[in-house]
Amino acid sequence: MENKRFMPEPFKIKMVEHMGTLDKEERKVAIKEAGFNTFLLRSEDCYIDLLTDSGTNAMSDRQWAGMLLGDEAYAGSRNFYHLQSVVREYFGFKYIVPTHQGRGAENILSSLMIKPGDYIPGNMYFTTTRFHQERNGATFRDVIIDEAHDPRAELPFKGNVDLKKFQALIDEVGGDNIPYICLAVTVNLAGGQPVSMNNIKEVSELAHKYNIKVMYDATRCVENAYFIKEREEGYQNKTIKEILFEMFSYGDGCTMSGKKDCITNIGGFLCMNDHDLYVQATGMVVQFEGMPSYGGLAGRDMEAMAIGITEAVKFEYISHRVNQIRYLGEKLEAAGVPMIKPFGGHAIFVDAREFLSHLSQEEFPAQALAAALYEFSGVRTMERGIISSGRDIKTGENHHPKLETIRLTIPRRVYTYAHLDFVADAVIDLYRRRDKISGLKWNYEPKVLRFFTGTFKIINEELVEGY
Ligand code: F0G
Repeated sequence: MENKRFMPEPFKIKMVEHMGTLDKEERKVAIKEAGFNTFLLRSEDCYIDLLTDSGTNAMSDRQWAGMLLGDEAYAGSRNFYHLQSVVREYFGFKYIVPTHQGRGAENILSSLMIKPGDYIPGNMYFTTTRFHQERNGATFRDVIIDEAHDPRAELPFKGNVDLKKFQALIDEVGGDNIPYICLAVTVNLAGGQPVSMNNIKEVSELAHKYNIKVMYDATRCVENAYFIKEREEGYQNKTIKEILFEMFSYGDGCTMSGKKDCITNIGGFLCMNDHDLYVQATGMVVQFEGMPSYGGLAGRDMEAMAIGITEAVKFEYISHRVNQIRYLGEKLEAAGVPMIKPFGGHAIFVDAREFLSHLSQEEFPAQALAAALYEFSGVRTMERGIISSGRDIKTGENHHPKLETIRLTIPRRVYTYAHLDFVADAVIDLYRRRDKISGLKWNYEPKVLRFFTGTFKIINEELVEGY
């Protein structure tokens, strides 16, 4: 039995939340009112909500029990010390500064380490991460391997840094103008693709040779550790905990969105080994987040994060999580739906460019597909393409990412295989009538992070014609 490919959920359901029940006509009104932006839908109007895996996790009974042990002291909360000891044990960094979520940590790190005119290399951009780098005067440079931009290139570690690109940047601008490399494990927008231990080591050696720090975006680090165990020579018999610890041993610090691999609903932190940087970070956290012992969080939330980390590294949890993604991916693949391959750790990315090959990128195929899938089935997903990618801050021109996708993101411990069957059927049915989906044009384009609050109009009369 243990060898069954897709083992049932390794948890049982103790509390339930009812799902949205709008019918087709009501959904048609809802998506129109939301300006064809799935971010602007009401949650209760969604049936299966795959917008994000961020903060949408189901916490365990142990985490909820921990919430009741919240020490809500203004300073020196017991839960902070618990979190600190867990982070030291699992991540290995000396200092931790809690923040309200990942971007709080990104804000502090970017403000402290970047001076105007600097360059920040990274293995593909992430929206908020790049925003904070640019806000502090840096230019982001993508140094991920070329294959990461090709939906169909099948590599075990498609999130790896291309060392030649990294070296070329150092030669071009000089190591002094590169305070750190932002190393994402895994790479969200490439499809949740992992970085190999070997690549982490090589990046670390090259960076440190030029006094460049290695700062991880550790957001989905447990998923990365799982892929290393599964795919990299020499790691099969190591525990996820051991692999995670080794991954971080080659770097100097990290930003973390606890809303992902700490399996909580809110929270994040910044870590570092450098004492001076820590002192400066505590100086900043009091200005923007709160005391260095709570960083914008309640004591109970720090407790939930501490417990969540210990649960996330359990093999039965993480293997089930990654297998859920694969299960959905394989169903879609069997029906010919174009996707980013290989399947990553947190989501299936449907290739909207090919799905809606009758639309140009200027007709926002991924935005249109996310809206259409909602209207068609009540399944909420997110655009990850030209809209998310934004405009070049210098020229004002649209970035034109090669990957134009919708992300079917699986929240942790929330949906069962039966829910995924429904999602697969919905996407497949829509794929059969893909030529009936209209493109979109801007109604309102916000200046920054436009995907969150922008609104659109349909180009044709109907979003999905005649179903
Ligand atoms: N880095 C990565 C790779 C992320 O995926 C996110 C958030 C952040 C940083 C920022 O963390 O949301 O806690 O401030 N990603 C969410 C998503 C929003 O849906 O992919 P945060």
